Amino acid sequence: MSRKYLIAGNWKMNKTATETVDLIKEINSTVGSQTNVQVCVCPPFTSLAKASELVDQSEVLLGAQNMCAQPSGAYTGEISAEMLRDLYVSFVILGHSERRQFYGETNESVNKKVLAAVENNLKPIYCIGETLEEREAGQTLDIVRSQVREGLENFPANAIDSLVVAYEPVWAIGTGKTATDEMAQEVHADIRKVLVEMFGDSAASTVRILYGGSMKPENAAGLLSQPDVDGGLIGGASLTSRAFSGIVEAALAG
Ligand code: 13P
Repeated sequence: MSRKYLIAGNWKMNKTATETVDLIKEINSTVGSQTNVQVCVCPPFTSLAKASELVDQSEVLLGAQNMCAQPSGAYTGEISAEMLRDLYVSFVILGHSERRQFYGETNESVNKKVLAAVENNLKPIYCIGETLEEREAGQTLDIVRSQVREGLENFPANAIDSLVVAYEPVWAIGTGKTATDEMAQEVHADIRKVLVEMFGDSAASTVRILYGGSMKPENAAGLLSQPDVDGGLIGGASLTSRAFSGIVEAALAG
């Protein structure tokens, strides 16, 4: 099964709507017309409307960074799947470690969001990964397996090809420390094994598993050459078109 690489930029809480225009125009002009690698930008909510108009002029897809599990109603400050769809958002990052760490999200609460996303034809980018303490205690695979099992419980098998999983070791996020190519492959292969147990061989082979954590142009080629690394979820290096496009180019060459 050949899976198309997905390179997704998680801008986190960076870029005003005005700054978004400049960055997306640059990305459009560098890698926006190629179709061999899927490229997605995930700016903050306040930039989505502007971003939506700009990505319409290229092959670049749009993602959001979070979403409410509820369809509508009295949930002050929240954004629904329907609101995202209305802005032509394709992907939604869910359960990022920063949301787990600072906003109390759990496998169980993220599972509700994942199911709501897929019901609304949004493609979830479901984030998982161990902390440094967990890795040092030899618990990496146990932690990641339960994140996959619990966060993807009841995921509809007929929508499995819309699922993206992002393995982001927490100790590698924003630290400059990257998992080695072999470390990433070991965990990605294990994630796919759990997906096989949950959904069967052929379904699991369609799921893209992204690596995230200090990915940059210099280390992208090695990580992307691993058989179960199907792309990247990029933080810091997604904030300049030069670095982000460099990673897309590494994927194009891979
Ligand atoms: P960095 O690329 O800045 O390490 O962030 C990774 C990340 O958290 C993407 O979601």
